[in-house]
Amino acid sequence: MKPLFPKWTNLIPHAFLAGFLGLAFLLISGTWYYATPKFWEVGYMPEQPVDYSHQIHASKLGMDCMYCHNYVGESRTANVPSTSTCMNCHTVVDDKTGYLNLALSQDGSSPSPHWSNPELAKLREYWAKGEAVPWKRVNKLPDYVQFNHAAHINSGVSCYSCHARIDTMPHVYQAESLSMAFCLDCHRDPGQGMVDVHGVIDGDSPVRITDLARVQKLLTQPDYATTIGDRLAQRLRSAPPQHCAACHY
Ligand code: HEC
Ligand code: HEC
Ligand code: HEC
Ligand code: HEC
Ligand code: HEC
Repeated sequence: MKPLFPKWTNLIPHAFLAGFLGLAFLLISGTWYYATPKFWEVGYMPEQPVDYSHQIHASKLGMDCMYCHNYVGESRTANVPSTSTCMNCHTVVDDKTGYLNLALSQDGSSPSPHWSNPELAKLREYWAKGEAVPWKRVNKLPDYVQFNHAAHINSGVSCYSCHARIDTMPHVYQAESLSMAFCLDCHRDPGQGMVDVHGVIDGDSPVRITDLARVQKLLTQPDYATTIGDRLAQRLRSAPPQHCAACHY
């Protein structure tokens, strides 16, 4: 007798199973990738206790990053400035008027809106209480990763490479994933992210590591790595590490 179903139909359940597994795989890997905190952390921009702007202080006023983040070139961790650093400028009071100098109109005669700026009022409050401003942390690696700011900065890796154009940000946000792949991409090919801090290439003038506008201009030149970056990388005393123990305890 002829079977009710032809033999090939035996394959149907297998096809279903394979299809189902494929779909499940896509779903799981998709969720894994997109729901992983790292994917979302790029752009993370918590609301800060005082509305402080890098755009005003670093770009408009031209302050160097290391005026405030003064340990970044010497230590593993970058520091966020204490309230007293802000108060170097924000408590300069004019003898005659009793107003903050910063808060005077341009001819120095009357108070400007700056005086009543509520954000600066908050800053003065923390200062009066002798408290640090409880800034919210933005960029953060997991505890099992070790990272060293000074090692990068002194060998010519600019803040720009990991924090982007923070000098143009009214509010700080996380600009890069800071994932393992992000670190290793540069460690495998450091020429793409190095600038000439010592002025050793072709008598070029040294690049200030915190001059993010100039660094951006250099690093985004199409032939930068092959013409300059790779030569800088060759001068490193040791190549950037790729072995696990360099970054993991
Ligand atoms: C006037 C002081 C001041 C200057 C100048 C300054 N910063 Fe900051 N920076 C701060 C303060 C305060 C915070 C914490 C509040 C915030 O995140 O907005 C901060 C936060 C940061 C953060 C984020 C920290 C975190 O939690 O992840 C980075 C990165 C940073 N600054 C880099 C820079 C760079 C690069 C420059 C130079 C272009 C610079 N800063 C100039 C005061 C300063
Ligand atoms: C070198 C001097 C200097 C230092 C240090 C400084 N500021 Fe300022 N800040 C200024 C000046 C000048 C202005 C006014 C800029 C303007 O309005 O264009 C200003 C403006 C501000 C404003 C008002 C911005 C607005 O929207 O008008 C805030 C808030 C502020 N600063 C917070 C801080 C904090 C917080 C720190 C410390 C992390 C700090 N400043 C350190 C000079 C300084
Ligand atoms: C090679 C990448 C890299 C470079 C270059 C770099 N940073 Fe960072 N930065 C990081 C990472 C990663 C973190 C988070 C560190 C952690 O969680 O241990 C961080 C954190 C910070 C913080 C927050 C520290 C805290 O304790 O709140 C500040 C401020 C900061 N960086 C400023 C700077 C400044 C200013 C420069 C340039 C002078 C700079 N960084 C250059 C990768 C970098
Ligand atoms: C844009 C390029 C670049 C990026 C991005 C970068 N690095 Fe590096 N890293 C370097 C260079 C260049 C060196 C070599 C420094 C030297 O030997 O002078 C280095 C060295 C190191 C070292 C050895 C430093 C020491 O203590 O001697 C560690 C650890 C390290 N990087 C960790 C990291 C981690 C973690 C990240 C990601 C969060 C990262 N790096 C991102 C370029 C980079
Ligand atoms: C240049 C620095 C660096 C090196 C070298 C490195 N890692 Fe990582 N690794 C990181 C960073 C940064 C993270 C954190 C990523 C995150 O926040 O999601 C990480 C995360 C991890 C994780 C956690 C899972 C994940 O992907 O988030 C594992 C597991 C890991 N690394 C294993 C290794 C092994 C094994 C090696 C050696 C083959 C290695 N790492 C070498 C920087 C490094």
